[in-house]
Parts: sequence; structure tokens; C-alpha cells
Amino acid sequence: MATQTTDKFKKIISHAKEYGFVFLSSEIYDGLGAVYDYGPYGVELKNNIKEYWWKSMVYLHENIVGLDSAIFMHPKVWEASGHLSAFNDPLIDNKDSKKRYRADVLIEDQIEKIREKINKEVKKAKKRFGDSFDEQKFIETSQRVQKYLSQIEEITKRFVAAMENNDLKELRQIIEDYEITDPVSGSKNWTEVRQFNLMFETKLGSVSDEANSIYLRPETAQGIFVNFLNVQKTARMSLPFGIAQIGKAFRNEIVARQFIFRMREFEQMEMQFFVRPGEELKWFEYWKEKRWNWHINLGFGEEKYRFHKHDKLAHYANAAYDIEYEFPFGFKEIEGIHSRTDYDLSQHQKFSGKKIQYFDNELNKSYVPYVVETSIGLDRTFLMILSNSYTEEEIRNEKGQTESRVVMKIPPALAPVKIAVFPLVKKDGLPEKAKEIFKLLKPYVKVVYEEKDSIGRRYRRQDAIGTPYCITVDHQTLEDETVTIRDRDTMEQERIPITEVLDVVQKKTSMTELLKNLL
Ligand code: GAP
Repeated sequence: MATQTTDKFKKIISHAKEYGFVFLSSEIYDGLGAVYDYGPYGVELKNNIKEYWWKSMVYLHENIVGLDSAIFMHPKVWEASGHLSAFNDPLIDNKDSKKRYRADVLIEDQIEKIREKINKEVKKAKKRFGDSFDEQKFIETSQRVQKYLSQIEEITKRFVAAMENNDLKELRQIIEDYEITDPVSGSKNWTEVRQFNLMFETKLGSVSDEANSIYLRPETAQGIFVNFLNVQKTARMSLPFGIAQIGKAFRNEIVARQFIFRMREFEQMEMQFFVRPGEELKWFEYWKEKRWNWHINLGFGEEKYRFHKHDKLAHYANAAYDIEYEFPFGFKEIEGIHSRTDYDLSQHQKFSGKKIQYFDNELNKSYVPYVVETSIGLDRTFLMILSNSYTEEEIRNEKGQTESRVVMKIPPALAPVKIAVFPLVKKDGLPEKAKEIFKLLKPYVKVVYEEKDSIGRRYRRQDAIGTPYCITVDHQTLEDETVTIRDRDTMEQERIPITEVLDVVQKKTSMTELLKNLL
């Protein structure tokens, strides 16, 4: 990771803590690995992200309904789904640094490193040849690039085969053959590769040795599958239709790093779309496009996203893509779109002994539906928004001096606080007037009132939280019922009548407007 991007990421993490977005869990006891709490502004942002996702799924699609299933499920669920036997990560330890890694991630990172070398070569050549540069031709003819490409091809081929065959020895061999080193210490002194199941186990019942082992769900999807018939029948749904759910999931991640990117307790927003067998790939393309548009609609720029096709498919899938976002530490998965075939429903049918089928009136027959899933991490979306919004700017303050400000340019509809109300000074009846406006706005939008500190410091504080608007009540307000309204991004101020404040704020921060673009 380049130093600049590491620095930016560090700043984002400390900003998130300092301004009440994210705290370490149990911080007074020095924290708990890869578990985090969301503070006063974090929880608002999180709720807004959920609203954006939920409404885009359940309100904008008449054939999608919601569900809130329990975290604990019958232990057979995880036998049927394959998680008990196959939800494993290959782990490897470095004997010198005593650090633990995922062998597959070490290999994937090695492939990415070679890709970066190719990008560097292309950039260098572009500079050398200027306007006449033909990238494709360069890639085809440069011996060095071709060498890198064949390396990638070779590693990928071996890697995919090893993962598919659960061949831990081969994974270890790849690490040795390509001289993959510990990213921290540079050491090549590795242990063997072992499998590690990611599910958290606990006991159900009061007497622990007699009680049954149950698991904290590692994905919310299974709660949807086991409720397929309940939902289909009670909501009178016909195929194709979807079930959406937001909820906690738990994974005992081997390597939990990068702040809230990889957590042991996290939240997923998942939608399972049930379709006729044979139509799944058409719907897969449909959902790929829909989900791409949902991201682009946030306005961060298309260049910040890319699709990544899975080389190794999960045991249940016949097609899978990730949407990746360019975090400060590189392009990483934020969402998965998977064609899961009829695997899950068929498995639950087999393990429960209950028929899980849909009668298709048009075809006049029953079958187990196929499923296309969209699965996005709420916490990763949160981190994406923090990363994209964090901006440092040089500005001129009220006294004409330059100073730097940190502003969170969060999309206004998702901003934790929509507007702040300030009296210019703490006297002359200004606080009373400001509180009147504060009360007026409260039922409509998340608004805060602040009278402490200089007006400049109050603006800075709201910038740091990402509040799109601040209004200031001054002496003129008492004469003509107008206030100044300041825009977070441009810092421009305008005078408007108090009666227009709500309208201006609601228009610019409207979730409805954001959703309308997706229709
Ligand atoms: N039901 C399919 C499923 O769970 P996944 O790719 O394992 O698929 C889906 O997870 C999404 O959940 C990921 O794209 C990611 O955003 C999020 N996610 C997975 N593991 C996570 C973790 N340990 N911490 C935070 N988010 C995670």
C-alpha cells in the first residue's frame, strides 16, 4: 500500500472515532478483535444506508418483499447449506513474525502485485510515446508485459484448481514456488496450510453439556431460504419474486484487518430473487446492472468501481461477480451477485424432508426455483462512504487567513445530520429565535442545535460530520424573519426567509429524489 493511501486510511479511521462514527468495541478493555460499535453519527449514517438499500429493493420493486429472520437457526440448516463442512478458509502462519494469514489471500495479493507491475509498464510507455500510444498493441508486443501475463495465468490456473479440489498442499506449494513473503516481515518461513471453519458455535439450552450446538449465522441468506414457502404463500407472490433482508452475520475471520472492512460481527443486506430454472442467467444480468446503478447513483464516479468475475465459484453457484470499490487500500469487494442455482432450496428440501417447490400455473408443473442473490455488506458500504467523503481542503477563514478544514462530503440524502441551527451569539434573543426554528424542523429532518464556540468552529464541526446545511440566526433575523444558510461543499451563504428553510433542506437531502433516479 502506498504511504499516501495508508496515511489517508489512518486519518479516516481516527476521524471516524473522533467524530462519533465508529468506536472499538469494549474500548475501555482495549477492544475486541475486529468488532466495532457505531457512535451517534455512525448509527444515523448506517440507518440512512439501510433506508436507501431497503427502499430501492422493497419499495421500487413490487415483486420484492421483506423479512427479518432470527440469527439462531436449527443446526441442520448449516449441514444442509454446506457451511458446516465447507465454510472454511485455508490458514497459514509465518513462523518468524507469528502472524496468521489466509493462504488464498496471500496468493490473490501476489497476483494483484503482478497486475500492478503491468500497469506501471503501461503508464511508463504511455508517457514515453505520448499521443501515438496504442495500449493494446503495447500489451501484445512488450516482452515484459507478456511475461507478467503468463505468470498471472499460470498462478491463477494452479490456484483455482487447488481451491476447487481443497488441495492445501498445492496452496502451500504455490506460496513456495512464487516466493510469497510475509507482508509484514518479509519472511518466507511458513507453516503448512490448514482448514479453519469460520462459524461461531454456541450452545442452546440451560445445561451446557446436554445442550445442542448451534451457530451464529454466517450469512442472512439461509433465513430467507428456509422461509421461502412462508413468504411466498402469505404475501401471495408469484415467480419471479424476491425476498430482502438486512441483518447481522458472524464469521470468525482468521485475518481481520482494515478497520470495518473485515469484521467478525457485521451486517449484510441480502436479496434472494427466485426465478424459473433456465432463466437465472438472464436475471443475473438484470441484477448485475441494477446493483451497479445503485452504486453509481451515489455520485462517487464510475472509475471508483469495477466488476470482478469469480474464477473460483462457491459450491452453490453457476455464475458470480463482485462489485469492487477502490478503497484507500485498493479495489476490494463490496457486493456479491451470485447465481446460486436451486442448490439451497433443494438441500433444505432434502435435509428437512419437506417439499419446497413452486407450482407454476403457466407451465402447469411444480419445481424448485433457481435463485439469483445480491449480497452487500452494510459496514463495507459505510466504509466506502467514509473513504469517498473524507476531504481535506485549504480554505480562508473569516479573518482572511488560510486554514485547513476536513469535510465529509457524504451524499446529502445519507448525511447523519441534515441541518444545524446556530444563533450567531448567545444573547439578544438570538438563541430563543434559533430554538424556535430548531423545533420547527425537528419532526422532518435530523437537525442539531449548537450555541457553544465561535461560529467558525461550529461550521468546522458540522463539516467534519458531513452536515449539508447550517443556518445562522443573527440580528437581522429578528427584524425580517430571514436567516443565512451555508452550503457544506461550496461554503457559500445565502439569505433566505425562515419559511423556505425546510423546503431547501428537504429538496437537497431527499432520499426520495435519490431513489427516483433508480426507477
Ligand atoms: N450470502 C452470500 C454471502 O454471504 P459473501 O461474499 O460471503 O456472500 C457478502 O458476503 C458481502 O458481505 C460481501 O460482499 C461483504 O460486503 C460482506 N462481508 C462478508 N464478510 C464480511 C466481513 N467479515 N466483514 C464485513 N463485511 C463482510
